[in-house]
Amino acid sequence: MLLVRVVRRTLAVFLALAGIATAQTSANLPPRRRAPLLAWLGAGRYAVDYTPEPDVHPSAGPHGGNVRIWYSPVLVEDLRAGRTAFRKGAAMVKELYRGGRNEVVGFAVMRKVRPRSGPAGRGWLFYETLDASGTIAIFGRGHPTCTGCHRQGVDYLQSSFRP
Ligand code: HEC
Repeated sequence: MLLVRVVRRTLAVFLALAGIATAQTSANLPPRRRAPLLAWLGAGRYAVDYTPEPDVHPSAGPHGGNVRIWYSPVLVEDLRAGRTAFRKGAAMVKELYRGGRNEVVGFAVMRKVRPRSGPAGRGWLFYETLDASGTIAIFGRGHPTCTGCHRQGVDYLQSSFRP
């Protein structure tokens, strides 16, 4: 009996470690469904390995008030390599602060879901909310509310921040 228990416990520890290893090797990307995406943002998961702008600053766009943008590791690599079309896994999280500088009150997110952006930007998933429950949100691939401005950027990237 004891042996069975020890084996079971060892197995449990092994599985837990294997889980951690998989979590570390699989990409930390904004989830593609709304509820998990909001949870991922709320938990600040992007802060684990995304590269932030040096500081909170006023938005140059319509995003309203102060913002701070974080780039995914794939996007950072692409920019450093001088790529102007980003790979799948490129992602940006923009923290929205409105008039303040300390409290994040909303998020705008983009994630490249396929290698080609396409004429309507359907290679990008767009999301924006200022609603803590996420009920009022803009969400979708190639969302027309977002693509008008963003298609003028470098493969839909508008910010001039280069890590
Ligand atoms: C009127 C133009 C405009 C519209 C519409 C717009 N954006 Fe932006 N967006 C910008 C500008 C300009 C920036 C550069 C950073 C800044 O100054 O805020 C930006 C930055 C971003 C960023 C950071 C990455 C980047 O490209 O720089 C995200 C994420 C983002 N916007 C998401 C969205 C989403 C989601 C929508 C649609 C709901 C949207 N934007 C609509 C102008 C726009």
